Formats: sequence, structure tokens, C-alpha cells
Amino acid sequence: SRIAVFASGQGSNFAALIDAQRAGLLGEGNIELLVSDKPEAPVAKRAEDAGIPALLLRPKDFASRELYEAEIVAELQQREIGLVVLAGYMRLITPVLLTPYAGRIINIHPSLLPAFAGKDAIGQALDYGVKLTGVSVHFVDGGMDTGPVIAQRSVVVQDNDTADSLAERIHKVEYELYPEVVGAFASGKVELSGRKTIIREK
Ligand code: GRF
Repeated sequence: SRIAVFASGQGSNFAALIDAQRAGLLGEGNIELLVSDKPEAPVAKRAEDAGIPALLLRPKDFASRELYEAEIVAELQQREIGLVVLAGYMRLITPVLLTPYAGRIINIHPSLLPAFAGKDAIGQALDYGVKLTGVSVHFVDGGMDTGPVIAQRSVVVQDNDTADSLAERIHKVEYELYPEVVGAFASGKVELSGRKTIIREK
């Protein structure tokens, strides 16, 4: 499958996906495009270094969110992109993208959903005082981190954790889990029925 990764920031998950692809760990997946809403973000440089084409658009250059996304959809279709992988893409998706890519957009979130959806999930978990948090990969719908869960891994919160120390352990788990799920997804092994998902073994 031809994959577009969407990212707004550092792009460490984007980098982990590229590394996994180079190591032959993305199954039938091939990362063909980076889409970013922040042309100055470090992730853009990572795409350039990796030789991956990038579509860098500023939403505020468009009259509406829908017109911004229509431009993205046109590019995805031109490049025959089958799957959209969100990796730190800090925007809600509208039906302009959701409808043509129904069931083909996934996201990674640094908590055990449905806990701590939205921004700063790691800070939210520390503030709440939970002893266990983690990472979720889920299908994307129109809500904020609300789509069906595909995979989750737990991370223990330690008594002396700071936002940085906890983030570091969560990110390590992300870099393992996301390539696994993207590989399965790209190889057609992720099944969805209602809110229930299954990753087939082969
Ligand atoms: C990750 O923690 C991801 O779970 C969340 O945003 C962060 C992106 O980090 N959705 P990076 O840009 O991949 O370094």
C-alpha cells in the first residue's frame, strides 16, 4: 500500500516509520509522501533528508479547512495513496478527507484511550495521577481521538516521573508499536467491524 504520513511537529514517529520501512518491517507499506500543515516544522527537514516528497501547506492560506483538505485529497489521489497515517498531526480531519479515506486513516496517541484524549495527554496523565498510562493506535473519525482502537501498550508511571522522563518512555513504545500496526494495516491485516478491530496474524 502507498502511504502518506501526516505530521505537524518533531516527526520522531515519522522517522521511526521510515527506519522500519528501510529495515523491511512495514510489510507491504511504502511511505510515499509527507503532508504537513507546518512548513517550518522539523518533520519537513526529516522528509527532505530521507528523500520523501512533502506537501507543505499552511491552512491559513486557504479560505476554509475544507478547501485546505481538498487540496490534500487531490494530491493523495494523484499519487494513488491508499492509507493515511497520522503521526503528531495536530488538526481534526473533516469529511472532505474522511469520506474518501473511510477506514483508511489511523492515528497514534500517547495515552490509553479513552483516557486523556486531546492535547498534552502525557501532562494530563501526570496531573491526574494515574499509575498506568500508555500508547494507543486507533482509526480516525471526525472526533478528537475517538475512533475504534486497534492496539494499545501500557507504560507504568514512576513516582519520580517528570513530563520529560515519562514522555521518553512513551515515545520508545510508540516507535515500536506504530511500525507494527502500520505494517499490519498496510498488509490488509487489520479488520474493522463496528467499533471492534482485529489484527489477523497472517
Ligand atoms: C506523539 O507522542 C504522538 O503520539 C502524538 O504526537 C506526538 C508526535 O511526536 N500524537 P513526533 O512528532 O512523532 O515526534
